[in-house]
Amino acid sequence: MSKCSNGLNHFTRMNGYHFARALGGWASSVTFYFVCTTIVVLASCKEDPVNAVVYDPTPFLLEFGGFPPPPLPADLVLTEAGVALGSMLFHETALSGDLTQSCASCHQQEFGFSDPNTFSIGIDGLPGRRQAMTLANLAWHRNGFFWDGRSPTLRDQALRPIQDPLEMHETLDNAIAKLRDKPEYADAFVRAFGDEDISADRIGLALEQFMITLISNDSRFDRYQRGELLLTESEARGLALFNTEFDPLGVVKGAECFHCHGGFNFTNDRFSNNGLDAGPPFADEGRYEVTGNPGDRGKFLVPTLRNIAQTAPYMHDGRFATLREVIDHYDHGVQASPTVDPLLQFSIDPGLQLSEQDKLDLEAFLRTLSDEAFLGL
Ligand code: HEC
Ligand code: HEC
Repeated sequence: MSKCSNGLNHFTRMNGYHFARALGGWASSVTFYFVCTTIVVLASCKEDPVNAVVYDPTPFLLEFGGFPPPPLPADLVLTEAGVALGSMLFHETALSGDLTQSCASCHQQEFGFSDPNTFSIGIDGLPGRRQAMTLANLAWHRNGFFWDGRSPTLRDQALRPIQDPLEMHETLDNAIAKLRDKPEYADAFVRAFGDEDISADRIGLALEQFMITLISNDSRFDRYQRGELLLTESEARGLALFNTEFDPLGVVKGAECFHCHGGFNFTNDRFSNNGLDAGPPFADEGRYEVTGNPGDRGKFLVPTLRNIAQTAPYMHDGRFATLREVIDHYDHGVQASPTVDPLLQFSIDPGLQLSEQDKLDLEAFLRTLSDEAFLGL
């Protein structure tokens, strides 16, 4: 019974609206509305119950390989239908003010779900203020989302770009109205949530489900870790440099990267100032804008390095075009300031003094973090 009336609500709304527009006259549109409603009532109640669209509880099985289980939201219900709806929404341009932009416009799979532009351009042709972030392994974030961690959960995060005037620039009410006009969403919301009510909360929950499934764990490095292949000599040397501390006596070579980019996801998930600029003030104050704590000035989320060869340009402001520029920064380019991370003390001029071969090896190792399946290559 409820299935029958669910389907009805949708069809009467659609038909009433379209016929009324086509006819123009108020009286005739009302007559037509009732005629159509009656036809639809008869048609949908004859609907074959076997084919009726219903809630589909089939769980989505997350494959996280050798990674530790992610700290998922306690109330998360991850279903195949929910993930499928999230994917539709992620690619939906109707969520933007002028129907031209979707999440995928700035989070492109082949670039590790990031954007090759230094600053992404929103629908009004205006650039944002930060570089688009990769969306790999978001399920493991513990300290919030965005470069400054201002959003606590993915379901909250997902609604922000829709409303951001420099991004998709649309109101949630308009976005919802446009989705209601697309018949395919009624069924997708029923499968994912049990009825066809389209709300901002549900859009956030579906996008959260989809983004949780964006897991990158099959790079050459992962295969090496699973004992499926050997790294080249250069890659192996780069890995050792990455994981070793700098030795002021110069006996052991080390580049110190693991302190912040350690662990299976190549991030400690903390906020840190990696010495891009002298300050304060900093052109972008990062974490400080969220906490107001002077100790957070110029600090940003330590990003994952997974698929790093695909996610150029680098840093929150996209200032480095190549991995070599990044390595040169950590070699000797770190700027002193009251909040610069003490772990980078040896990267201030004259710096680590890595040799040309060291730099090539470090880059060769970083390139092993590319995951072709994740990138859709
Ligand atoms: C106009 C380009 C653009 C669009 C469209 C866009 N994003 Fe983003 N996204 C960015 C930028 C830039 C950042 C970093 C912003 C910041 O930190 O202030 C970001 C950050 C994120 C993050 C944070 C990742 C992390 O590691 O913390 C997530 C998640 C995300 N976007 C998801 C989405 C979703 C979902 C949509 C669609 C509803 C979307 N984005 C639409 C540009 C875009
Ligand atoms: C003290 C912590 C710390 C250390 C040590 C460190 N990083 Fe970083 N790294 C960061 C932070 C923080 C950012 C983001 C900074 C920003 O954008 O303002 C970052 C950004 C990066 C990026 C750009 C990522 C992106 O998506 O734009 C790369 C690549 C990188 N680091 C590689 C390395 C390498 C290689 C080493 C060792 C030579 C290293 N890092 C050492 C903290 C650190």
